[in-house]
Amino acid sequence: MLSGRHLLGIKDLSAQEIMLYLKSASSFKDILKRDIKKVPALRGRTVVNLFFEPSTRTRTSFELAAKRLSTDVINFSAPSSSILKGESLLDTALTVEALGADIIIIRHSFSGVPHMLSKHLRVSVINAGDGTNEHPTQALLDAFTIMEKKGGFEGLQVAIIGDIIHSRVAKSNIYCLKKLGADVRLIGPATLLPECFRDLGVKTFSSMEEGLEGADVIMMLRLQLERQGKGFFPTTDEYFSQWGLSNKRLRAARPDAIIMHPGPMNRGIEISSDVADGGNSVILEQVTNGLAVRMAVMYHLDERKEQ
Ligand code: CP
Repeated sequence: MLSGRHLLGIKDLSAQEIMLYLKSASSFKDILKRDIKKVPALRGRTVVNLFFEPSTRTRTSFELAAKRLSTDVINFSAPSSSILKGESLLDTALTVEALGADIIIIRHSFSGVPHMLSKHLRVSVINAGDGTNEHPTQALLDAFTIMEKKGGFEGLQVAIIGDIIHSRVAKSNIYCLKKLGADVRLIGPATLLPECFRDLGVKTFSSMEEGLEGADVIMMLRLQLERQGKGFFPTTDEYFSQWGLSNKRLRAARPDAIIMHPGPMNRGIEISSDVADGGNSVILEQVTNGLAVRMAVMYHLDERKEQ
């Protein structure tokens, strides 16, 4: 059983809680293969998507996952809301709660916003990405995809590459994969991969060739230009020549290494199209798995609320 009624980050979860989500996601994935993909598990509940940053995958899959669980779903649009008249984020969330929401899913550019809301709301809060802090459902769907492809985590060599410092995906994945027994290496320029990351129990590399040696899983990250100032690297061409994933670079990894990317991709900047679309890529499977994983997350948080 889960210890809390929110999903704010992977850092707070035990390995058993992570595995509970992954095992349930497997059952939900089986349901999603049926002709009738909908189950009445959360009938009568209301889920609200509160997204204050752009999203394609996360917002859409939370909406579809909620619909597959038979909930009512509201997609809150910040640009057309009373936020523009000066209403605070907390008053907005309290208003949504007063309308009868059971689960609020929040994405925000400031780290810690879901944690703040969870202290003031009675509903379950799910972090759909907070600033540079965490993106827990992305890490769960990544772990689920790795489990499907590799059968487990113990001793698995996972390389996470790119804009580590700005990446909530990287942080959630480091917490998740370490708890599950994988060996995690980080690769990137020193400007985007500060030494303090070693405190998380990972190895760090500035050379792609060294860091990719024998990797089972390669997780590329988007260069988050919207969170960067100037001077992290000279040009995007220079970045690709040093830290981009091409078929030539891929040869350093194991032949059966899987290629992951949380999306959206900057093709030709962090990953070449032939790798992104190649035989080792599981990028679209990650998207598909996001649906089952998010069904599992909402299902278990709702179960926890009943206690
Ligand atoms: N991976 C991810 O968070 O993608 P979106 O920004 O499209 O939701």
